[in-house]
Amino acid sequence: MSGSGKTLRLGVAGLGTVGGGLLKLIERQAELRLPGKLEVVAVSARNKNRNRGVDIAKFRWVDDPVELALSDDIDVVVELVGGSDGPAKRTVEAALRSGKSVVSANKALIAEHGMEIAALAEKHQAHLLFEAAVAGAIPIVRAVKNSLSGVIVSRVSGILNGTCNYILSEMLRTGAAYETVLAEAQRLGYAESDPFLDVSGGDAAHKVLILAAIAFGAQPDFTQVQVEGIDKIEAMDITLANKFDYRIKLVAEAYRSGGSVRCRVAPVLVSRDHPLASVNGPLNAVVVEGEPVGRLTFTGPGAGAGPTAAAVMGDLARLFEGPATPPLGKPSRELAAVITAADSTNDQGSFFIGAKLADKPGMFAALTEELAEAGVSIDKLIQESAGDTGAAPVAIMTHPCPRASVEKALAKIAALKITADEPRLLRIETRA
Ligand code: HSE
Repeated sequence: MSGSGKTLRLGVAGLGTVGGGLLKLIERQAELRLPGKLEVVAVSARNKNRNRGVDIAKFRWVDDPVELALSDDIDVVVELVGGSDGPAKRTVEAALRSGKSVVSANKALIAEHGMEIAALAEKHQAHLLFEAAVAGAIPIVRAVKNSLSGVIVSRVSGILNGTCNYILSEMLRTGAAYETVLAEAQRLGYAESDPFLDVSGGDAAHKVLILAAIAFGAQPDFTQVQVEGIDKIEAMDITLANKFDYRIKLVAEAYRSGGSVRCRVAPVLVSRDHPLASVNGPLNAVVVEGEPVGRLTFTGPGAGAGPTAAAVMGDLARLFEGPATPPLGKPSRELAAVITAADSTNDQGSFFIGAKLADKPGMFAALTEELAEAGVSIDKLIQESAGDTGAAPVAIMTHPCPRASVEKALAKIAALKITADEPRLLRIETRA
């Protein structure tokens, strides 16, 4: 089946945003630069009748994606079902067990079951490729796994969720409400079918863990990723951070620390001239740092039908090239590095506090007194009028201090019940 000029027979499981985008791109394959031909033989999805803007009547319809994976007339299973367990996992496992190549966009599956799925692929010498799982059209999985295999990576970081980046930048650009911008991200096909995965940071956590596993030769262990999303961020945090000349970005990072690898995702402030500050909308960015190259930065569309389908297509092109290699770079039994939980309480640096403060005499004094008592020095602050809301938006930037000190002050402030909501505490990124 593989080899120049040959045809790969595909079974496509999952016809949502990405599946629809892929079928459209396959229709245009004459315009692409593939080493051979792709033929969609059969498809499977939850809903046969949904309008996908592409005619699926010419493909065999299979209700059960596992049955599709086991079909004898298919060489490659393209898994676009999504979800860490259930039908997606069963489909991928069935395909690999029968020695078929698998191309998947499923970050949850690779992040949460990467070890066992990789071992299964290796055992059956089957391709398992998942470029589309991380950062959309940016070819970062292949870059880290192959092109950068000569680099001793010290840190991989960046913006890995298009939906969150779209929400944060559009709220600032247009002043629109969170719900409005999220609905638009869903309409544009950026968001997961359950957008909580996006805004809670879980999707970015899956992606950074996959990059960490490959970049550091580590066993993916999702339980060890520290995750904080943008779901608690208020519009006032974004606008007041902007008044300090900072942007709020959801940053994912994996880095060496002592003998292990730490992975975390959190909203942080980056100054207006920081390289990540200008990565807006559904764009993603990935920064790889290591010896002997220094730093490489990749930027591009991180979500949406077209960019993700293009990444799937890149993996399909790879299938013409030759035998399978271990899905996570090194053979799974040789993934020796260990991912251990990051502990942000040990952070040192400057912090941003956003809160809605009760609009009564002495409230501001009480707030600053607690910070002073905890040894936290204020660098800048803004208070806006409460208007008729009864709670004044307040933003504070601290001088460098231990995060633990700010947390201690905020715990006391919570006990005083002087804020209308739980204050947001965000790290200020100082690395360029
Ligand atoms: N929901 C994801 C995002 C899609 O917003 O980045 C790409 O994985």
